[in-house]
Amino acid sequence: MTGTRKWITFLAALLVMINGAFYAVLADHDDDHDREGKRSQHQKRYRENSKDYKKRYLTPVNNPTYIEECGGCHFTYQPELLPSRSWDKILAGLEDHYGEVIELDPKSKREIAEYLKTNAAEYSSAKRAVKIMQSLGNRTPMRITQIPYIQEKHHEVSQKVLERDSIGSLSNCSACHTTAKKGIYEDDYVVIPP
Ligand code: HEC
Ligand code: HEC
Repeated sequence: MTGTRKWITFLAALLVMINGAFYAVLADHDDDHDREGKRSQHQKRYRENSKDYKKRYLTPVNNPTYIEECGGCHFTYQPELLPSRSWDKILAGLEDHYGEVIELDPKSKREIAEYLKTNAAEYSSAKRAVKIMQSLGNRTPMRITQIPYIQEKHHEVSQKVLERDSIGSLSNCSACHTTAKKGIYEDDYVVIPP
């Protein structure tokens, strides 16, 4: 009898412990949920096609041909990150694209050129595109990472950090900007991977 009672006490204690752990997990989960909830609310306030979103953030890439042909090797940079004259120059030199050879059929090339150029930095009201145009003057960079405004914003990121396997180079925007795909480059959403 005393043996059974000991067991019951033991089981009861175990249950209390499990219960406690269970609630601790639940509480944790709720916290995450709240944070996520707030974040998505914040983003929802600026719907992707609203004027507010377009002023605050870059418009997410939405051209399937560009995604397919240009997104295989690297992040699909928003057209607003460069002026149309830079896109022209980049597309004119695809036979030596930073050491790679890129072959595109004329129809896809035309469609990509049209998409990148009509949505380029000089036609954008997004605050970062405006800053890009201001910082360029009449230069025609072949890289976003050569724009003085972009270089200034990253001067604190060391070469050693950029060389990490998880990053590779400053060109890999989405390695650190967790919301880059959404066109959101706010420093709140920067996480430098280890
Ligand atoms: C075969 C792989 C490949 C494909 C496909 C490709 N690229 Fe690239 N691209 C590269 C490499 C490599 C770099 C240099 C990246 C670096 O320095 O880290 C680059 C860099 C760039 C940069 C400059 C990024 C910076 O440093 O600011 C732009 C802009 C760019 N590519 C646009 C395009 C466009 C537009 C297309 C489609 C027509 C395209 N790429 C397709 C390999 C590719
Ligand atoms: C190694 C990580 C890393 C990479 C890769 C990176 N960034 Fe950043 N970026 C940062 C950090 C950190 C900051 C915040 C600097 C600060 O505190 O103001 C920043 C800031 C910015 C800002 C200014 C944001 C603001 O709120 O003023 C822009 C715009 C930006 N990055 C665009 C880009 C683009 C475009 C690329 C790719 C071509 C890129 N970044 C690649 C880490 C990175």
